[in-house]
Amino acid sequence: MLSTRVGKVLSAAGLPIDGEVVKGVYMGKGTWGGNGEVMESVCPSTGEVLAKVATATAAETSEAVKRAREAYKTFRKVTGPKRGEIIRQVRNAIAEHKSALGALVSLEMGKIISEGEGEIQEYIDICDYAIGLSRSAAGRVLKSERPGHQILEVANPLGVVGIITAFNFPVAVCGWNFALCLAVGNATVWKPSPTTPLCAIAVTRIVADVLEKNGIDGAVASLVCGGLEAGEALVNDKAVDLVSFTGSERVGQIIGTKVQSRFGKILLELGGNNCAIVAPSANLDLALRTLVFAAAGTAGQRCTTTRRLILHRSIADKFLPRLVKAYENLQTRVGDPLKSHTLIGPLHTRGAKDTFFKALEQVKREGGEILVGGESYAPSSGDLKQGHYVLPAIVKPASPESPIFQEETFAPMLSVAIYDDLDQAIGWNNGVRQGLSSTLFTTDMREMGKWISEEGSDCGLVNVNVATSGAEIGAAFGGNKSTGWGRESGGDAWKQYVRWSSCTINFTDDAPLAQGVNFE
Ligand code: UN1
Repeated sequence: MLSTRVGKVLSAAGLPIDGEVVKGVYMGKGTWGGNGEVMESVCPSTGEVLAKVATATAAETSEAVKRAREAYKTFRKVTGPKRGEIIRQVRNAIAEHKSALGALVSLEMGKIISEGEGEIQEYIDICDYAIGLSRSAAGRVLKSERPGHQILEVANPLGVVGIITAFNFPVAVCGWNFALCLAVGNATVWKPSPTTPLCAIAVTRIVADVLEKNGIDGAVASLVCGGLEAGEALVNDKAVDLVSFTGSERVGQIIGTKVQSRFGKILLELGGNNCAIVAPSANLDLALRTLVFAAAGTAGQRCTTTRRLILHRSIADKFLPRLVKAYENLQTRVGDPLKSHTLIGPLHTRGAKDTFFKALEQVKREGGEILVGGESYAPSSGDLKQGHYVLPAIVKPASPESPIFQEETFAPMLSVAIYDDLDQAIGWNNGVRQGLSSTLFTTDMREMGKWISEEGSDCGLVNVNVATSGAEIGAAFGGNKSTGWGRESGGDAWKQYVRWSSCTINFTDDAPLAQGVNFE
């Protein structure tokens, strides 16, 4: 018997509350199934089983890819603006369900309700962007060196895009990929995280409904819930032209290599070890407010979470105690993410909690100290006792060279270091494998200029007086180095979802050769 807390959220999202197994595989034409293992979706806040989900076997995954490919052959002929109209309808349908879906994200992932709704808003925003893109995804016309010739760069769809998403953004990251794919004429097969299938099922039902009402084969937005079996089948299928993967560096390396070995395209969004630098001229009030959100928000489970804080020696003694105090105040705001007072929800799994404690142990073993937090949090409410709550921690590793400083711990642990010279701080920012997000708090224009220049941060996201997390969809999102060099969402990211043809066209009756070659 489900609790009322859960029942309300699931019903609002159109999911069963009577223990019925939810079908987690969709491949168009109203067909929902799942012959694979039945998996449980578990609430990170309470440990309650939210639902049982029927997942995809390898054979079903191949079938989904095959049907997506068939659907693509028709869908590619739909005009761009018509595809834009379909995205507009998807956008409106998702917006209509914003609060229900936001609550479902909060329930199944564990992020606070405001961030759950924010995530749905991010899906809506990227749809808005993609509607425009459906009319503006342009190639170029170039000047030819041969008289009466023109050169065109033409963008055509790739075919089928596999989208493998992580638990921490169970809706928005699929949206980044899906909306762009739809705009440029691809079909998609989505494999969500095995721990957040309900978010994916709820979204896919809405999308499928819009597609089918428009006479478009729903296989354009296929879904294969599942684990390794479905994931491997998707990654290894030659009919999947691009695999977009968000997750760990370790898994990203395996997937990247596999897709590359069959000459498929890859788009990787992997780990981040994001850094914030606070310079002497910084507005410290702003830095403080921003950092508490960026480092402790989402319980440290955004790819873009601030994991390292580099303070200038001149402000460190003033700033650090204030930050520690802010973290102490946060301790009264840990709890059920569905409650509006809560700022820190649970970690997503028991394993994440173990990782958090192991990292804290490592800090101590390497000679560092824990300045605040780092304990398990036992909620007073009985329901929440099985949740994975922790108190966000600030730690001071023995040195910025300590191994712990180099690694991403996907939990709310912020490591602090003190710097004397901006180049030294930039060196530490850049001195790790990962290169996702970074920020500099300063009001000094010269520092700002250096930070965003070739001598500055080597990350994909380089901010000034703004959190490392919480990017908007307008610009491309992604990271460099071991973060995987992927670009998703806005900017020029759409260009990865198309195959480019350079077309040289001769409008004359002559046949001149390029480079002045004479063959007569
Ligand atoms: C992620 O953590 O995988 O910039 C994505 C942000 C969000 C997206 C994060 N817009 O924090």
